[in-house]
Amino acid sequence: MQEKSSRIPGFYKLSLEERLRLVADFAGLSGEEVETLKKVGNLDLKIADIMIENVIGTMAYPFAVAVNFLINGRDYLIPMVIEESSVVAAASNAARVMRRDGGIRARTTGPLMIGQIQVLGLRDPWYQRMIVLEHKEEILDLANAQDPVLVKLGGGAKDVEARVVEGPRGPMLIVHLIVDVRDAMGANAVNTMAEAVSPLIEKITGGRTHLRIISNLADKRLVRAWVKVYKEEIGGENVVDAIVDAWAFAAADPYRAATHNKGIMNGVIAVALATGQDHRAIEAGAHAYAAKDGRYRPLSVWEKDKDGNLVGSLEMPMAVGIVGGATKVHPVARIALKILGVKTATELAEVMGAVGLAQNFAALRALATEGIQKGHMKLHARNIAVMAGATGELVDRVAQIMIEEGKIRFDYAKELIEKLSKEGEVGKN
Ligand code: MEV
Repeated sequence: MQEKSSRIPGFYKLSLEERLRLVADFAGLSGEEVETLKKVGNLDLKIADIMIENVIGTMAYPFAVAVNFLINGRDYLIPMVIEESSVVAAASNAARVMRRDGGIRARTTGPLMIGQIQVLGLRDPWYQRMIVLEHKEEILDLANAQDPVLVKLGGGAKDVEARVVEGPRGPMLIVHLIVDVRDAMGANAVNTMAEAVSPLIEKITGGRTHLRIISNLADKRLVRAWVKVYKEEIGGENVVDAIVDAWAFAAADPYRAATHNKGIMNGVIAVALATGQDHRAIEAGAHAYAAKDGRYRPLSVWEKDKDGNLVGSLEMPMAVGIVGGATKVHPVARIALKILGVKTATELAEVMGAVGLAQNFAALRALATEGIQKGHMKLHARNIAVMAGATGELVDRVAQIMIEEGKIRFDYAKELIEKLSKEGEVGKN
């Protein structure tokens, strides 16, 4: 259990060095790990070169930490890698009003992934479906023989399902291998098993196996997160109603649901990137799940309880790992996992579900009250000011004038910097 609190008022006002020191202290980072985070090129070219093909360099993104998160009664600092401003601040603000009663709750269904085997050339796929199910134990044994380590850890192939799917080229038999992948994302283990059992499936059915690959619609590996936000924490029942109305829009309209879910993914994917996950798999799973009843829907639900408080919940697939892939190879991903202090992939999934829910709340709250641009513009104006060459006090001064005058532009920032520096109102240090 983490002893230290993640509730850190004014974290954003500290210097980068001070923030890093605080995080290092919270997570027990070594001096070397601290140096790695500070280093511009913190992915060695040699490691980059073995991660993917045709490498010619690396590209750095900002690595930040969202504060204030209390999930299942435990304090977490949340590492986030993202190019968009406001997201980390919004997550931290949301988490601050979600700390009562043990904070955000989250649970998972367990790390079960699905491997798909497409069987073609069957005269009677409905009959062959039964034959496959009759041979379930044999199929499972062969699958499990591929990965004794996973089996020893309590994972492995656990079940076989078979479906007849009507396609544009006629009916096909689709066999699902259900694999408990424990702490891995699982693609390698599942794909190996799917390929290994396909000759047996051909023998049993007399058909021809075609594709053998994991499904990213990981609907047996769900995370559920939920939270109660007390009305007085967010400005009263009017704000609660405004947020529920915002959710109702997404529930009724796929055009809005896509953006609503994008807000959730802002949080989820930022943590996925920081911890070296296959974020495309998470994205694909999320959107397929959002459309599972034939219409694209929001992944979260926001309601008002009998006391007028806001209650939110989120359910989505979360295929993440803490072993294998980039999680162990990338030095920064390793540090991110250390900052989180998660012990299992399931715990990581719970954290990510909670972050998604908090991120979604932050967006809806802003949209349903002052609008998203106010906060965004404040940060954007600061960025423009810095890009135009402002330093020190000049950053906020230039940003403020640009906001007040509604002219948040690079050329205007330059003009202001020159003018203010000349006037000597503020030193340009
Ligand atoms: C922007 O990155 C995310 C939002 O558009 C999400 C939403 O509309 O709910 C603000």
